Amino acid sequence: METDSSPDDPYRTAAEFYDLFHGETYRRRAVGHLAASAAGSALGILEVGAGTGIVTEVLARSSTVPVHAVEPSRAMRTVLMARLSALEWLRGKVRVYPVAVQRARLDAPVDLATCVNVVATVAPEERPGLWSALAARLVPGGMLIVDAPGRLAPLPGHRDWRLPAVRVGDDDYTAAVRVRPAGADGRLRWTYQYAVRHGERTVREESASFYAWPLDPSRTAAELARAGFARAPGTAPVAAYAGGLAPFEHLAYYLRRRD
Ligand SMILES: C[S@@+](CC[C@H](N)C(=O)[O-])C[C@H]1O[C@@H](n2cnc3c(N)ncnc32)[C@H](O)[C@@H]1O
Repeated sequence: METDSSPDDPYRTAAEFYDLFHGETYRRRAVGHLAASAAGSALGILEVGAGTGIVTEVLARSSTVPVHAVEPSRAMRTVLMARLSALEWLRGKVRVYPVAVQRARLDAPVDLATCVNVVATVAPEERPGLWSALAARLVPGGMLIVDAPGRLAPLPGHRDWRLPAVRVGDDDYTAAVRVRPAGADGRLRWTYQYAVRHGERTVREESASFYAWPLDPSRTAAELARAGFARAPGTAPVAAYAGGLAPFEHLAYYLRRRD
């Protein structure tokens, strides 16, 4: 039985605001960077960290195979389920797994796994388990797409930045982002500071924090090799994290070895 695995959900606050600030950008990037690979899947797609379903919808729309959406956060999954509820065609193509992928029981073959905008939030000691879980669920020769995480390093001088404000009714929703070093293991603490303003008046403030670990490209490549992956011919390795790289925009392609 699969039961919810996120009693202490790091996305409990962010989920409400996630699509508002990221929905359109991430949808566009997923169309540009993932749709063609999804169209090439002949068996099934495993989406690790489906979140609110922004990418799930693109994968499902671009492919003819089932999409297995794995999402352990109840808050994120609530938005995902609302998206599935609203779209009958999507509901027919997506199966939802309410657990981390290491615990997901897949009984269908998948020849494409996407792990995009996820891996930086996985602690380094948990990453080898993540890669082996993916290798175990992909058919031999199946492809894993993983991205280099976005702007993971604190900006020079530790400046914060703002996402474009969004209007809901006659309220303005804003989000400020702060990244700070947060531990000897190189982890960073990302904080999103949300505010809702009605004219000059602030009617609500919320804050959500996450840890993220910059990927070391050679260490990641070694982990992937140990888990049974080989870089797809003619493609680039996982990139070093770099200021300004946005999620989805630097993808690395690995194949599950056949042996
Ligand atoms: C930053 S969100 C990105 C969501 C979605 N990929 C997107 O780009 O909109 C990262 C998501 O990965 C999920 N996640 C983290 N670790 C995971 C794991 N081991 N297995 C499956 N999902 C995981 C989190 O719950 C979260 O919803």
